[in-house]
Amino acid sequence: MIVVASTAEMQQRALEVRSAGRSIGLVPTMGALHEGHLSLVRAARRDNDFVVVSLFVNPTQFGPNEDLQQYPRDFETDRRKLEAERVDALYAPSTEEVYAAGFQTYICVEELGARLDGASRPMHFRGVATVVAKLFNVVQPHRAYFGQKDAAQVAVIRRLVRDLCFPVQLVVCPIIRESDGLAMSSRNGYLNPEERKAATVLYRSLREAEARYREGERSGEALTRVLLECLAAEPLARVDYAAVVDPDSLLPLERLEDPALVAVAGWFGTTRLIDNTLLGESRHDYP
Ligand code: PAJ
Repeated sequence: MIVVASTAEMQQRALEVRSAGRSIGLVPTMGALHEGHLSLVRAARRDNDFVVVSLFVNPTQFGPNEDLQQYPRDFETDRRKLEAERVDALYAPSTEEVYAAGFQTYICVEELGARLDGASRPMHFRGVATVVAKLFNVVQPHRAYFGQKDAAQVAVIRRLVRDLCFPVQLVVCPIIRESDGLAMSSRNGYLNPEERKAATVLYRSLREAEARYREGERSGEALTRVLLECLAAEPLARVDYAAVVDPDSLLPLERLEDPALVAVAGWFGTTRLIDNTLLGESRHDYP
């Protein structure tokens, strides 16, 4: 595995791989890699000749009072994990490399970027869309791998790819969970033992909504109420949002059509966590 910090070198290497007729798979990450990230890496390894993982804690997607400084960083451990997955290139640029002095071109997915997580994190998806567009230009992947864990991010990037004609196929991979259902996240490490226990309420609220859906409930409002009631029963959880929306537009659904995205976000102490499930799809990411 080559480790590349220079954007010019990464782009040059990608061009060489492409002109040799080999396919490139890209997995964008912010590091602190867990099994969720590695599931994307394995999917990319399965589908492509050349696998690039990017590791960059992107400052423009963090709000002023968010966890940019505390965000977990362990380059050596991440490097070893990726080496073990037979990744071809680890692209790990510095902040100055990505945002050189004078940088001022941002990509704003206007309406989608202001929904769900975008509503509580106003500049977040502008930062995500900008860095992902840059990664696409540098790595020039045939396929790019994202987790369903960040469902709103998937909707934003899908729109970005369509709107700006990126010749990239998006591959969305299922949510990987801990044994008690908590979706894996680099931020789970912030939780104290009580908060860690309480955080399973996100997953339980989704299961509850799914059970009601299976019983025939098709009202978005009724299912949202199920989520809120379940979340309210956990005193250590403070709800950010609970929503039943169209997975592409992220707009609330009055009556459920297939598929519907059921998404929750909540605070556990100072840690904000998200989770979701798709209803009305044959694919399920948990047993
Ligand atoms: P990060 O949070 O590091 O996540 C990188 C990728 O891993 C994302 O596509 C995310 O959805 C996926 N992922 C995280 N946890 C997962 C889980 N439990 N199961 C399946 N997939 C999971 O998302 C970002 O970084 C950034 O916003 C990025 C796209 C890299 C842009 O900076």
